[in-house]
Amino acid sequence: MKAAIYTQYGPPEVVSVKDVPAPTPKKNELLVRVVSSVVTAADGRIRAARFPKGFGVVAKLAFGAFAPRNHILGSCFSGVVEAIGEGVTDFSIGDEVAGMTGVGMKAHAEYLVISAQKSVVKKPTAVSHDDAAGVLFGGTAALFFIRDVGHVKEGQSVLVNGASGAVGTNAVQLAAYYGATVTAVTSGDNDELVRSIGASKVVDYETQPLSQCLETFDRALDAVGNVTIKEGLRLLKPNGQLLLMVPSLGQMFTFNKRVKTGTATEKAKDIAFILDLVAEKKLTVLIDSTFTLDQIQDAYRRLDSGKKRGNIILRIGDKKTTGQAGS
Ligand SMILES: NC(=O)c1ccc[n+]([C@@H]2O[C@H](COP(=O)([O-])OP(=O)(O)OC[C@H]3O[C@@H](n4cnc5c(N)ncnc54)[C@H](OP(=O)(O)O)[C@@H]3O)[C@@H](O)[C@H]2O)c1
Repeated sequence: MKAAIYTQYGPPEVVSVKDVPAPTPKKNELLVRVVSSVVTAADGRIRAARFPKGFGVVAKLAFGAFAPRNHILGSCFSGVVEAIGEGVTDFSIGDEVAGMTGVGMKAHAEYLVISAQKSVVKKPTAVSHDDAAGVLFGGTAALFFIRDVGHVKEGQSVLVNGASGAVGTNAVQLAAYYGATVTAVTSGDNDELVRSIGASKVVDYETQPLSQCLETFDRALDAVGNVTIKEGLRLLKPNGQLLLMVPSLGQMFTFNKRVKTGTATEKAKDIAFILDLVAEKKLTVLIDSTFTLDQIQDAYRRLDSGKKRGNIILRIGDKKTTGQAGS
Protein backbone atom coordinates (compact mmCIF):
# COMPACT_ATOMS: atom_id res chain seq x y z
CA MET A 1 0.00 0.00 0.00
CA LYS A 2 0.97 3.65 -0.33
CA ALA A 3 1.61 5.62 2.84
CA ALA A 4 3.07 8.99 3.78
CA ILE A 5 6.34 8.06 5.46
CA TYR A 6 8.76 10.13 7.53
CA THR A 7 11.89 8.75 9.17
CA GLN A 8 13.32 11.96 10.60
CA TYR A 9 11.83 15.00 12.30
CA GLY A 10 11.77 18.15 10.22
CA PRO A 11 9.98 20.34 7.66
CA PRO A 12 7.25 19.11 5.26
CA GLU A 13 9.93 17.71 2.93
CA VAL A 14 10.78 14.91 5.39
CA VAL A 15 7.48 13.24 4.45
CA SER A 16 7.13 11.31 1.19
CA VAL A 17 4.86 8.65 -0.25
CA LYS A 18 6.29 5.14 -0.28
CA ASP A 19 5.09 1.59 -0.82
CA VAL A 20 4.97 -0.38 2.43
CA PRO A 21 3.27 -3.66 3.37
CA ALA A 22 -0.39 -3.29 4.28
CA PRO A 23 -1.25 -4.28 7.86
CA THR A 24 -3.32 -7.39 8.57
CA PRO A 25 -6.11 -7.40 11.15
CA LYS A 26 -5.53 -9.50 14.25
CA LYS A 27 -8.18 -10.75 16.67
CA ASN A 28 -10.88 -8.08 17.28
CA GLU A 29 -9.36 -5.72 14.70
CA LEU A 30 -10.70 -4.13 11.53
CA LEU A 31 -8.71 -3.51 8.38
CA VAL A 32 -9.96 -0.19 7.02
CA ARG A 33 -9.40 1.15 3.51
CA VAL A 34 -8.91 4.83 4.22
CA VAL A 35 -10.88 7.17 1.96
CA SER A 36 -10.19 10.43 3.80
CA SER A 37 -7.88 11.53 6.56
CA VAL A 38 -6.86 14.91 7.91
CA VAL A 39 -3.56 16.69 8.48
CA THR A 40 -3.74 18.12 11.98
CA ALA A 41 -1.83 20.40 14.32
CA ALA A 42 -0.76 17.23 16.16
CA ASP A 43 0.69 15.72 12.97
CA GLY A 44 2.61 18.94 12.38
CA ARG A 45 3.90 19.05 15.94
CA ILE A 46 5.14 15.44 15.88
CA ARG A 47 6.57 15.68 12.35
CA ALA A 48 8.60 18.75 13.29
CA ALA A 49 9.22 17.70 16.93
CA ARG A 50 7.69 21.06 17.85
CA PHE A 51 6.10 20.54 21.24
CA PRO A 52 4.62 22.95 23.83
CA LYS A 53 7.13 24.53 26.21
CA GLY A 54 8.57 22.01 28.66
CA PHE A 55 7.29 18.92 26.82
CA GLY A 56 10.26 18.37 24.49
CA VAL A 57 11.98 15.60 26.45
CA VAL A 58 8.80 13.75 27.45
CA ALA A 59 7.43 13.90 23.89
CA LYS A 60 10.70 12.71 22.36
CA LEU A 61 10.68 9.76 24.76
CA ALA A 62 7.18 8.93 23.59
CA PHE A 63 7.68 9.47 19.84
CA GLY A 64 11.36 8.59 19.45
CA ALA A 65 14.41 10.32 20.92
CA PHE A 66 16.52 10.93 17.79
CA ALA A 67 14.11 9.87 15.03
CA PRO A 68 10.43 8.98 14.96
CA ARG A 69 9.67 5.42 16.01
CA ASN A 70 6.36 5.31 14.12
CA HIS A 71 6.86 6.32 10.50
CA ILE A 72 3.25 7.05 9.52
CA LEU A 73 1.37 10.04 10.95
CA GLY A 74 -2.37 10.74 10.87
CA SER A 75 -4.84 10.17 13.68
CA CYS A 76 -8.31 10.50 12.10
CA PHE A 77 -9.86 8.56 9.26
CA SER A 78 -13.02 7.72 7.41
CA GLY A 79 -13.16 4.70 5.14
CA VAL A 80 -14.53 1.25 4.45
CA VAL A 81 -14.01 -2.01 6.33
CA GLU A 82 -12.01 -4.25 4.02
CA ALA A 83 -11.46 -7.24 6.33
CA ILE A 84 -12.23 -8.22 9.92
CA GLY A 85 -10.21 -10.20 12.44
CA GLU A 86 -11.51 -13.14 14.45
CA GLY A 87 -14.04 -12.16 17.10
CA VAL A 88 -15.37 -8.98 15.45
CA THR A 89 -19.17 -8.96 15.66
CA ASP A 90 -20.18 -5.29 15.54
CA PHE A 91 -18.75 -4.51 12.09
CA SER A 92 -18.93 -6.21 8.70
CA ILE A 93 -16.90 -6.03 5.53
CA GLY A 94 -18.15 -3.07 3.49
CA ASP A 95 -19.25 -0.94 6.47
CA GLU A 96 -18.37 2.73 6.20
CA VAL A 97 -16.55 3.66 9.38
CA ALA A 98 -14.80 6.66 10.92
CA GLY A 99 -12.50 6.85 13.88
CA MET A 100 -9.34 7.94 15.63
CA THR A 101 -6.10 6.05 16.08
CA GLY A 102 -4.68 8.19 18.91
CA VAL A 103 -0.95 8.10 19.49
CA GLY A 104 -0.80 4.94 17.36
CA MET A 105 -1.39 7.27 14.33
CA LYS A 106 -0.90 5.54 10.90
CA ALA A 107 -3.98 7.08 9.22
CA HIS A 108 -2.01 8.71 6.38
CA ALA A 109 -2.00 5.44 4.49
CA GLU A 110 -4.23 3.49 2.16
CA TYR A 111 -5.01 0.95 4.88
CA LEU A 112 -4.92 0.89 8.68
CA VAL A 113 -5.94 -1.53 11.40
CA ILE A 114 -7.87 -0.52 14.49
CA SER A 115 -9.39 -2.43 17.38
CA ALA A 116 -13.11 -2.82 16.82
CA GLN A 117 -13.54 -2.09 20.53
CA LYS A 118 -11.75 1.25 20.45
CA SER A 119 -12.35 4.62 18.79
CA VAL A 120 -14.23 3.58 15.67
CA VAL A 121 -17.91 3.80 14.75
CA LYS A 122 -20.13 3.29 11.73
CA LYS A 123 -20.22 6.52 9.74
CA PRO A 124 -23.69 8.02 9.25
CA THR A 125 -24.49 7.89 5.53
CA ALA A 126 -25.47 11.57 5.59
CA VAL A 127 -21.87 12.50 6.45
CA SER A 128 -19.23 12.44 3.70
CA HIS A 129 -15.89 10.73 4.27
CA ASP A 130 -14.16 14.10 4.08
CA ASP A 131 -16.42 15.64 6.70
CA ALA A 132 -16.19 12.59 8.96
CA ALA A 133 -12.39 12.54 8.90
CA GLY A 134 -12.26 16.33 9.04
CA VAL A 135 -14.41 16.84 12.11
CA LEU A 136 -12.96 14.28 14.50
CA PHE A 137 -9.70 15.89 15.68
CA GLY A 138 -11.11 19.31 16.44
CA GLY A 139 -14.58 18.04 17.27
CA THR A 140 -13.63 15.55 19.96
CA ALA A 141 -11.07 17.98 21.46
CA ALA A 142 -13.60 20.83 21.56
CA LEU A 143 -16.27 18.53 23.00
CA PHE A 144 -13.90 17.44 25.76
CA PHE A 145 -13.02 20.98 26.79
CA ILE A 146 -16.43 22.63 26.24
CA ARG A 147 -18.69 19.87 27.62
CA ASP A 148 -16.59 17.63 29.87
CA VAL A 149 -14.04 20.02 31.38
CA GLY A 150 -15.81 23.40 31.10
CA HIS A 151 -19.39 22.11 31.60
CA VAL A 152 -20.53 25.00 29.41
CA LYS A 153 -24.23 25.66 29.78
CA GLU A 154 -27.14 27.85 28.72
CA GLY A 155 -26.63 31.55 29.32
CA GLN A 156 -22.88 31.44 29.88
CA SER A 157 -20.35 33.55 28.00
CA VAL A 158 -17.43 31.76 26.35
CA LEU A 159 -14.31 33.25 24.80
CA VAL A 160 -12.58 31.06 22.19
CA ASN A 161 -9.00 32.03 21.32
CA GLY A 162 -7.96 30.46 18.00
CA ALA A 163 -11.57 30.35 16.82
CA SER A 164 -10.84 29.72 13.14
CA GLY A 165 -8.72 26.59 13.60
CA ALA A 166 -9.77 22.95 13.67
CA VAL A 167 -10.47 23.03 17.40
CA GLY A 168 -11.73 26.61 17.43
CA THR A 169 -14.38 26.20 14.73
CA ASN A 170 -15.79 23.24 16.66
CA ALA A 171 -15.48 24.97 20.04
CA VAL A 172 -17.41 28.01 18.79
CA GLN A 173 -20.20 25.80 17.46
CA LEU A 174 -20.35 23.47 20.47
CA ALA A 175 -20.36 26.33 22.98
CA ALA A 176 -23.27 27.87 21.03
CA TYR A 177 -24.94 24.43 20.83
CA TYR A 178 -24.86 24.21 24.65
CA GLY A 179 -26.48 27.65 24.88
CA ALA A 180 -23.53 29.96 25.48
CA THR A 181 -22.85 33.34 23.91
CA VAL A 182 -19.53 33.08 22.08
CA THR A 183 -16.81 35.66 21.57
CA ALA A 184 -14.26 34.52 18.99
CA VAL A 185 -10.64 35.68 18.91
CA THR A 186 -9.25 35.55 15.40
CA SER A 187 -7.55 37.65 12.74
CA GLY A 188 -9.72 40.18 10.91
CA ASP A 189 -9.82 38.02 7.77
CA ASN A 190 -11.78 35.36 9.64
CA ASP A 191 -14.38 37.68 11.18
CA GLU A 192 -17.15 36.65 8.80
CA LEU A 193 -16.27 32.95 9.04
CA VAL A 194 -16.51 32.74 12.84
CA ARG A 195 -19.73 34.76 12.91
CA SER A 196 -21.21 32.38 10.32
CA ILE A 197 -20.71 29.43 12.70
CA GLY A 198 -22.17 31.07 15.79
CA ALA A 199 -19.86 33.69 17.29
CA SER A 200 -21.83 36.76 18.30
CA LYS A 201 -18.76 38.91 18.97
CA VAL A 202 -15.29 38.91 17.42
CA VAL A 203 -12.01 40.14 18.83
CA ASP A 204 -9.54 40.79 16.01
CA TYR A 205 -6.25 40.11 17.77
CA GLU A 206 -4.33 41.99 15.10
CA THR A 207 -5.97 45.30 15.98
CA GLN A 208 -7.15 44.53 19.53
CA PRO A 209 -4.73 42.32 21.47
CA LEU A 210 -6.40 40.06 24.02
CA SER A 211 -4.43 41.89 26.72
CA GLN A 212 -6.59 44.96 25.96
CA CYS A 213 -9.91 43.09 26.15
CA LEU A 214 -11.94 44.52 29.06
CA GLU A 215 -14.85 42.08 28.94
CA THR A 216 -14.95 39.08 31.29
CA PHE A 217 -16.29 35.59 30.57
CA ASP A 218 -17.58 32.44 32.30
CA ARG A 219 -15.14 30.36 30.28
CA ALA A 220 -12.03 31.35 28.33
CA LEU A 221 -10.71 28.58 26.06
CA ASP A 222 -7.22 29.01 24.65
CA ALA A 223 -6.63 26.84 21.56
CA VAL A 224 -3.53 28.77 20.50
CA GLY A 225 -1.15 28.51 23.45
CA ASN A 226 -0.31 32.19 23.80
CA VAL A 227 -2.37 33.08 26.89
CA THR A 228 -0.54 33.32 30.21
CA ILE A 229 -2.37 32.25 33.36
CA LYS A 230 -2.27 35.82 34.66
CA GLU A 231 -3.74 37.20 31.45
CA GLY A 232 -6.31 34.40 31.22
CA LEU A 233 -7.54 34.86 34.81
CA ARG A 234 -8.04 38.55 34.11
CA LEU A 235 -10.50 37.58 31.36
CA LEU A 236 -12.71 35.62 33.76
CA LYS A 237 -15.83 36.44 35.76
CA PRO A 238 -15.50 35.62 39.51
CA ASN A 239 -16.45 31.93 39.08
CA GLY A 240 -15.05 31.62 35.58
CA GLN A 241 -12.66 28.95 34.33
CA LEU A 242 -9.62 29.18 32.12
CA LEU A 243 -9.39 26.20 29.75
CA LEU A 244 -5.85 25.81 28.41
CA MET A 245 -5.63 23.36 25.51
CA VAL A 246 -1.96 24.01 24.79
CA PRO A 247 -0.47 24.43 28.27
CA SER A 248 3.23 24.57 28.97
CA LEU A 249 4.51 21.99 31.47
CA GLY A 250 4.56 24.73 34.13
CA GLN A 251 0.95 25.74 33.42
CA MET A 252 -0.15 22.11 33.72
CA PHE A 253 1.00 21.98 37.30
CA THR A 254 -0.61 25.22 38.47
CA PHE A 255 -2.40 24.98 41.81
CA ASN A 256 -5.06 27.45 40.69
CA LYS A 257 -8.32 25.48 40.59
CA ARG A 258 -9.84 27.85 38.03
CA VAL A 259 -7.26 26.78 35.46
CA LYS A 260 -8.10 23.54 33.65
CA THR A 261 -5.84 21.61 31.29
CA GLY A 262 -5.94 18.06 29.99
CA THR A 263 -5.75 15.77 27.01
CA ALA A 264 -8.87 15.17 24.98
CA THR A 265 -10.24 11.64 24.96
CA GLU A 266 -11.27 9.71 21.83
CA LYS A 267 -14.26 7.71 23.05
CA ALA A 268 -16.38 5.90 20.45
CA LYS A 269 -19.53 7.37 21.96
CA ASP A 270 -18.16 10.90 21.57
CA ILE A 271 -17.10 10.19 17.98
CA ALA A 272 -20.64 8.96 17.27
CA PHE A 273 -22.11 12.03 18.99
CA ILE A 274 -20.01 14.43 16.90
CA LEU A 275 -20.82 12.60 13.65
CA ASP A 276 -24.53 12.65 14.51
CA LEU A 277 -24.36 16.42 15.04
CA VAL A 278 -22.82 16.74 11.57
CA ALA A 279 -25.48 14.43 10.08
CA GLU A 280 -28.19 16.55 11.73
CA LYS A 281 -26.54 19.71 10.37
CA LYS A 282 -26.04 21.04 13.89
CA LEU A 283 -22.27 21.07 13.38
CA THR A 284 -20.60 22.34 10.22
CA VAL A 285 -17.23 20.93 9.17
CA LEU A 286 -15.00 23.72 7.95
CA ILE A 287 -12.71 22.49 5.18
CA ASP A 288 -9.72 24.69 4.49
CA SER A 289 -8.27 22.68 1.63
CA THR A 290 -8.10 19.17 0.21
CA PHE A 291 -4.96 17.35 -0.93
CA THR A 292 -4.27 13.88 -2.30
CA LEU A 293 -1.79 11.57 -0.59
CA ASP A 294 0.79 12.47 -3.27
CA GLN A 295 0.42 16.12 -2.25
CA ILE A 296 1.22 15.42 1.41
CA GLN A 297 4.10 17.94 1.49
CA ASP A 298 1.78 20.70 0.20
CA ALA A 299 -0.74 19.76 2.88
CA TYR A 300 1.97 20.17 5.54
CA ARG A 301 3.10 23.48 4.02
CA ARG A 302 -0.46 24.76 4.35
CA LEU A 303 -0.58 23.51 7.96
CA ASP A 304 2.74 25.16 8.78
CA SER A 305 1.45 28.50 7.45
CA GLY A 306 -0.50 28.75 10.71
CA LYS A 307 -3.37 30.28 8.74
CA LYS A 308 -5.56 27.30 7.95
CA ARG A 309 -9.27 27.74 8.55
CA GLY A 310 -10.77 24.57 9.95
CA ASN A 311 -9.38 21.37 8.51
CA ILE A 312 -6.94 20.13 5.87
CA ILE A 313 -8.35 17.01 4.25
CA LEU A 314 -6.09 14.30 2.89
CA ARG A 315 -7.98 12.40 0.18
CA ILE A 316 -6.46 8.93 0.09
CA GLY A 317 -8.92 6.45 -1.31
CA ASP A 318 -11.30 6.61 -4.20
CA LYS A 319 -13.47 9.64 -4.77
CA LYS A 320 -16.74 7.80 -4.33
CA THR A 321 -18.03 9.39 -1.13
CA THR A 322 -21.50 9.58 0.31
CA GLY A 323 -23.33 12.48 1.82
CA GLN A 324 -23.09 16.20 1.71
CA ALA A 325 -20.95 18.68 -0.15
CA GLY A 326 -17.26 18.90 0.52
CA SER A 327 -16.62 15.30 -0.49
N1 LIG B 1 -5.19 19.38 24.84
C1 LIG B 1 -5.66 18.61 23.89
O1 LIG B 1 -6.15 17.51 24.11
C2 LIG B 1 -5.61 19.08 22.45
C3 LIG B 1 -6.38 18.43 21.49
C4 LIG B 1 -6.35 18.90 20.18
C5 LIG B 1 -5.55 19.98 19.84
N2 LIG B 1 -4.79 20.57 20.80
C6 LIG B 1 -3.94 21.72 20.46
O2 LIG B 1 -4.81 22.81 20.18
C7 LIG B 1 -4.13 23.69 19.30
C8 LIG B 1 -5.07 24.14 18.21
O3 LIG B 1 -5.27 23.08 17.31
P1 LIG B 1 -5.97 23.36 15.93
O4 LIG B 1 -6.02 22.07 15.23
O5 LIG B 1 -7.21 24.11 16.13
O6 LIG B 1 -4.88 24.30 15.25
P2 LIG B 1 -4.97 25.00 13.86
O7 LIG B 1 -6.21 24.58 13.15
O8 LIG B 1 -3.67 24.79 13.18
O9 LIG B 1 -5.09 26.54 14.23
C9 LIG B 1 -4.89 27.44 13.20
C10 LIG B 1 -5.62 28.69 13.56
O10 LIG B 1 -4.96 29.35 14.65
C11 LIG B 1 -5.29 30.71 14.54
N3 LIG B 1 -4.32 31.58 15.22
C12 LIG B 1 -3.00 31.64 15.02
N4 LIG B 1 -2.47 32.57 15.84
C13 LIG B 1 -3.49 33.08 16.56
C14 LIG B 1 -3.59 34.06 17.58
N5 LIG B 1 -2.51 34.70 18.02
N6 LIG B 1 -4.80 34.32 18.12
C15 LIG B 1 -5.91 33.69 17.69
N7 LIG B 1 -5.87 32.75 16.71
C16 LIG B 1 -4.69 32.46 16.16
C17 LIG B 1 -5.25 30.96 13.04
O11 LIG B 1 -6.23 31.93 12.79
P3 LIG B 1 -5.86 33.33 12.16
O12 LIG B 1 -5.50 33.03 10.73
O13 LIG B 1 -7.09 34.10 12.32
O14 LIG B 1 -4.68 33.83 12.91
C18 LIG B 1 -5.63 29.63 12.41
O15 LIG B 1 -6.96 29.63 11.90
C19 LIG B 1 -2.88 22.98 18.79
O16 LIG B 1 -1.75 23.50 19.46
C20 LIG B 1 -3.12 21.55 19.21
O17 LIG B 1 -1.91 20.86 19.43
C21 LIG B 1 -4.80 20.16 22.09
